[in-house]
Amino acid sequence: MKHTILLLGSGGREHAIAWKLTQSTKLNRLFIAPGNAGTAQLGENISINPEDFVAVQTFVEKNDVTMVIVGPEAPLVAGIVDFFKATPTIAHIPVLGPSKYAAQMEGSKEFAKEFMKRHAIPTAGYLSVTKDNLAQGFAFLETLKAPYVLKADGLAAGKGVLIISDLNEAKTELAAMLDGKFGKASSTVVIEEFLDGIECSVFVLTDGDKYVILPEAKDYKRIGEGDTGPNTGGMGAISPVSFANATFMQQVEERIIRPTINGFRTENIDYKGFVFFGLIKVNNEPYVIEYNARMGDPETEAVMLRLQNDLLTLVEATFDGTLDKQVMKFDTRFAVTVMLVAGGYPGDYQKGDVITGCELVEDSIAFHAGTTLQNNDIVTNGGRVIAISSYGNTKEEALACSFKNAHKINYKGKYFRSDIGFDL
Ligand code: AMP
Ligand code: GLY
Repeated sequence: MKHTILLLGSGGREHAIAWKLTQSTKLNRLFIAPGNAGTAQLGENISINPEDFVAVQTFVEKNDVTMVIVGPEAPLVAGIVDFFKATPTIAHIPVLGPSKYAAQMEGSKEFAKEFMKRHAIPTAGYLSVTKDNLAQGFAFLETLKAPYVLKADGLAAGKGVLIISDLNEAKTELAAMLDGKFGKASSTVVIEEFLDGIECSVFVLTDGDKYVILPEAKDYKRIGEGDTGPNTGGMGAISPVSFANATFMQQVEERIIRPTINGFRTENIDYKGFVFFGLIKVNNEPYVIEYNARMGDPETEAVMLRLQNDLLTLVEATFDGTLDKQVMKFDTRFAVTVMLVAGGYPGDYQKGDVITGCELVEDSIAFHAGTTLQNNDIVTNGGRVIAISSYGNTKEEALACSFKNAHKINYKGKYFRSDIGFDL
C-alpha cells in the first residue's frame, strides 16, 4: 500500500524526516503541517497548527491521509493519539506517537522518575516536591552534594532545569519555582542528585512491545563554544558517538531500553512511536537523565543520514507488530549537523531576514528549521534557522563539509558553533 502522510511539525527534525520519507517507494503523497521553506520542496505545506486537532481531523478526512507522523512533543502531550482513537471517522488512521498518558514520559518529570523507580531503571536519586512538602524538599537538598538539580515537572520549552552550586540559592530557587517561576509547569519540582558524566541520546522506535534501535547521537545544547553560555534547543549533533561503544550500548539495551519497553507492556501503556533516551555515562555505566516522546532535534538531522532502512517500512512495522522482523542497517560513516541560528538566540532575535546561498550548498544537506517563504524569498522564521548535515569518513571530514557550506549561507546575524564534536 502507498501512503498519504501528514507529518506534523515545522523544524529541522521534520525536514529530515520528510527527506527520509520521500526516499520511500511506499510514499504516495506528503503533507507537512505547518512545515517550513525546506519541507515545501519535498511535499505540500499546509497551514494548520498541529495542536488544533479539529483542523487536523478535517484535513485528514478531506485528503485521504492514511498515516499521521507527529514530530514535536506538544500535540502528543495534548493527546492527539487519543483524539484520533476517540473520533470514529479517523479512528482507523494510524498516528505515530505515544498516547497522552504515555507522553507523560516527557511531559512530567515526576511521572518518568516514578516509572523508572518501578522498573529499576538507573537514574539519579530524586524527591518530588510541591508547596505541601517544601520543608522535606529543603531537607533533601541538605542531604545532597553540590551542585543541585531542580527540574520543573511539566514542559517548559527546555528552560525548566536549573543547576545551582549554592545550597541557599537552591532553596530560594526551589521556593520560587513552586511559586510559579515556570508557571504551572513548576507547581511540582523534581530535585535530583547531580550526575557527573558525558551525555548522549539513544533513539528507539517501538510498538510498546517490540522495538528497533536507531543510530545514537550527541547533541550540543549550549550556545557558546566549549559548551558555555545558556541552553538552546541544540546547536549541532554528531553520530556515531565514540564513547557509546558496543559494551556501553549493550548495557543501555539490557538495563534501560528493555526494562522501559517491558514497563510499557506490563503497565498497558499505549506507546507506538519514538522513544528518546537522554543518557549520561557515569563511571562507564549508563543512567537516564530524561525521556522524550519524540525524536531529538537536531539529532534527527544526523541520525536520518545514517539510517539506511526505509523509514516508512519501519513505521508500517510499528503498526503491524513486525518490528522484530526488521534488520537494521546503518551507514558506517560519520554524520554531523551544524545549526545556523539567528543573532541573539536563545534570547530575543529577529525574524524575516532574507536568507541567501541555499542553492550553493554542495555535498551537504541543508535541513531548514526556522525558515519560511515570503514573496519568493526564503526568510528567517525562528531562532534555529538551518541545520547543515554532512557525511564524512572521519568526524573532521564531515564537519569540514558542513562548515564549508555554513559559510555559503548568509543572513543578518548568522551564528553557529564551530566546535561540534569537540569532546569526542
Ligand atoms: P533535562 O531537561 O532533564 O534533559 O535536563 C536538561 C539538562 O540538564 C540535561 O541535558 C543535563 O545536561 C542536565 N541535567 C539534568 N539532570 C541532571 C542530573 N541529574 N545530573 C546532571 N546533569 C543533569
Ligand atoms: N536535542 C534535544 C532535544 O531534542 O530535546
